[in-house]
Amino acid sequence: MPKTAEVPTLPPHQQPDWESEVDLAVVDEELRSRRPLVDAGSCHALRRELEIVTRGDALVIQGGDCAERFAESTAPHIQAKAAQLDELGDIVERVADLPVVRVGRFAGQYAKPRSNPLESLPDGTVLPVYRGDAVNDPEPTPCARKADARRLLLAYDHAAEALDALFLNQFLLPMAGVSPTYVSHEALLLDFERALVRPDDVCGGRYGSSGHMLWIGERTRQLDGAHLAFAAEVNNPIGVKIGPTTTPDQLAAIIDLLAVGHPAGRLTLIIRMGAGAIADRLPSLLTTAGASARDLVWLCDPMHGNMIRTSSGQKTRVVADVLSEVEQFCTTLHAYDVHPGGLHLELTPDAVTECVDTHDRLATPGILHRFLSVCDPRLDPSQAERVVRLMADLVRC
Ligand code: PEP
Ligand code: CO
Repeated sequence: MPKTAEVPTLPPHQQPDWESEVDLAVVDEELRSRRPLVDAGSCHALRRELEIVTRGDALVIQGGDCAERFAESTAPHIQAKAAQLDELGDIVERVADLPVVRVGRFAGQYAKPRSNPLESLPDGTVLPVYRGDAVNDPEPTPCARKADARRLLLAYDHAAEALDALFLNQFLLPMAGVSPTYVSHEALLLDFERALVRPDDVCGGRYGSSGHMLWIGERTRQLDGAHLAFAAEVNNPIGVKIGPTTTPDQLAAIIDLLAVGHPAGRLTLIIRMGAGAIADRLPSLLTTAGASARDLVWLCDPMHGNMIRTSSGQKTRVVADVLSEVEQFCTTLHAYDVHPGGLHLELTPDAVTECVDTHDRLATPGILHRFLSVCDPRLDPSQAERVVRLMADLVRC
């Protein structure tokens, strides 16, 4: 897992009170009294669609912001994001001649794992880092960066608003050919996730009612950790991010914990190695997975292993690297006779300049002049289209 680099520190006597005093127990009780955000039946419906993906008869496009904002969980924003995902799905369906399962990275993607707990501003001020709208606010002031448990209730409210907008979309527009959009997010804040676990009235046991698919991130997939233990206890389709330091033994244990004893499609491996590492690291994982590889969904996240800086020091990603990782992913899976199940992307329908097309652009001054993401850089609509087209072309071969 990535190591924390250069963490700025403050002497203890200068550390302000960064945690709010609101009692988490009060928030917990309130969340437990609320209605499920998604129903168990639709989580199982997604699992069945993912089983079709494991058989090689469908593909997944999962995408959205890196860090979703509360203010952008309103109907117009959500409908624009769902429409983008749907259009990308349509392109892939046409090119690859396979149905596409649309899974949004929205209606709940409000919490971010960070490599560094603190951030140094240009004037030397040190603040807690932004951790997603469910925790604090990105504005660079001590007050805004204070973690506030009440934000968990806002996360619920905004996810509910977003889901209403999606439901309206799907209810009103099926005649226009709109396919269902499932929702997913990283299950990072276990106080939130656990409070929304509900009885599964379809299959028995329990499910996480905060979203259809929940994934465990690269920084929290420790085998003895609370996040994988949480995932093992719920019936939802589960994703696990698999980075370049994942060992074959770790992968075997993740499969044992989350896939064995479950129907195909329960576990999605979201491979995020980086264009420079994937050809080296993925083959041994496929060997380890052996026959069970065909009960899993293998998605390519070509974003998170390809972070780079411009000459002026801003974080970005190069689309050429993203395309290269997608190509290597498909070639490697085909060599093992495993279906490349699709893509996990950070993208936006907005006209941003957050990712650059080629390495030579990294030196262009002002190249990221419309960098609007509060976390990782996202593909703009035409970049996203190029990436999904490549995947569709490669799957068809
Ligand atoms: C993310 O998906 O935004 C993320 C932080 O990914 P990873 O866990 O793969 O680093
Ligand atoms: Co991200």
